[in-house]
Amino acid sequence: MAQAFQVRRLGQTFFAEVTGFDLARPLDEPTFARIKRVHLEHGVVVFRDQHLTAEQHIGFSARFGPLQVHPMSQFNLEGTPQILLVSNDRHPDGRPVGIADAGRYWHTDMSYLQEPALGSMLYARAVPAEGGDTMFCDMTAACRDLPPAMRQKLMRLRAVHHFASRWAREQEKSGMRPAQTREEQDRNPPVEHPMIRTHPETGEPALYAGGFAVRVAGMAEEESQALLDWVEKWVTQPKFVYRHHWRLHDLVFWDNRRVMHHATVYPEQQRRHMHRTTVRGNAPFLDPQYLARELSSTP
Ligand SMILES: [Fe+2]
Repeated sequence: MAQAFQVRRLGQTFFAEVTGFDLARPLDEPTFARIKRVHLEHGVVVFRDQHLTAEQHIGFSARFGPLQVHPMSQFNLEGTPQILLVSNDRHPDGRPVGIADAGRYWHTDMSYLQEPALGSMLYARAVPAEGGDTMFCDMTAACRDLPPAMRQKLMRLRAVHHFASRWAREQEKSGMRPAQTREEQDRNPPVEHPMIRTHPETGEPALYAGGFAVRVAGMAEEESQALLDWVEKWVTQPKFVYRHHWRLHDLVFWDNRRVMHHATVYPEQQRRHMHRTTVRGNAPFLDPQYLARELSSTP
């Protein structure tokens, strides 16, 4: 039977809460289509009060597309590599169970791949009493509000995204993660993506950069860094940001083609244990008609 559920917008331009919906129950096609529309409309959805096994979490995620396995395989759930553990738990021998300091910088998941993530679903199995919020920013609204001359500049540029560079920076910063082996570093060579991309389902343009973007292709180092910094400052203005305070059993599903996110710190002695699945998306592109239309208008 179709489930009735309530949708409430929490952010200014994006982010909605869904209540009264049980993801553990079978999901018929019409209901799934409604959920998909809600997700596309709001960019990020928090489903409250979910009680899911790993298989159910994977099953729901896979309705949206093929799942991606995180390259740091030691942090994937044993026997179930589609689930990445974002956790500060430790094995009995002291080794970290998951990535404790995951995503503490603005980024869009797995943008270092040719076909980056469509979306990520993070499911809260243990949350600290304080801290550990996740901030999100709306790259579609931020793109719409760009000064026209800057939009014209950015739509002609591509950024280079590289996993190993970011990992090394975080490893140095926190000391909480292991250094990558040569093999791990070589597994994901740098890739280029447009700095403004067209959403393949809504057709909306969105900025696309973030923490895996190491430089702007073909630009001198200093100018490149200044531009990446400018973009980050622009998209993280309070009017584009929503800060999510996790409740136990929240499942948050965000659209990596539209939003960036940033994890925040929490007291180390408190447990935070999350399961993440990642749905594979398309190779980012910019609609040539949009490009031609924008370039023909005066900045
Ligand atoms: Fe992330």
